[in-house]
Amino acid sequence: IVKSVLAVLVSYLLGSFSFSYWLARILKRGDIRQQGSGNAGATNMLRVVGKGPAAAVFVLDALKGMAAVGVAALLGVGPAATMMSGVAAIIGHNWPIFLGFRGGKGIATTIGVMVPLAFLAALVSGVAAILAIIISRYVSLGSLIFAAALPVMIAVFDYPTPYIYISLLVTLMAFMRHAANIKRLMKGTESKIGTAKK
Ligand code: G3P
Repeated sequence: IVKSVLAVLVSYLLGSFSFSYWLARILKRGDIRQQGSGNAGATNMLRVVGKGPAAAVFVLDALKGMAAVGVAALLGVGPAATMMSGVAAIIGHNWPIFLGFRGGKGIATTIGVMVPLAFLAALVSGVAAILAIIISRYVSLGSLIFAAALPVMIAVFDYPTPYIYISLLVTLMAFMRHAANIKRLMKGTESKIGTAKK
């Protein structure tokens, strides 16, 4: 139990490193959370700063999710605690302790957590999400499809039962964090990628 708590705490701290925030600061582009959609994530980085930095943020935010799983593995905790460490990294990303608890929406970090833990589920959900983004040009729609498909695919591919329940938590968090996006999608005012600003 001590190891599990430690894994979760370390993972939360890892998740709290908000790479879009820090990279935007390093590039002297100000606080990413005051621009574009106001979100500290790769999509808003693409919108506000550009493709290269957005790709870097996506990879780094995903890697910290993977690192959380790695920490849990190093500490030798069980499957439920491993998945909870991943959840802690996502919580850190969404509500970072270093940035007044105002962070991102957790999708890149979720991908980083799910690839090592439930690769096939992440792959199928990811392909569905990418297709949705290509067709609609709404990244948020792809993110929501990814989050919704995950628990279903985790069940379909017969991953450990705790993964199913804990991934439902991940889905719930993703939908909570996308509340404003969902409203905009329904009103038809959500911003598309590959078009002019906002
Ligand atoms: O994962 C975040 C993405 O789904 C939406 O980001 O900046 O358009 O709110 P944003």
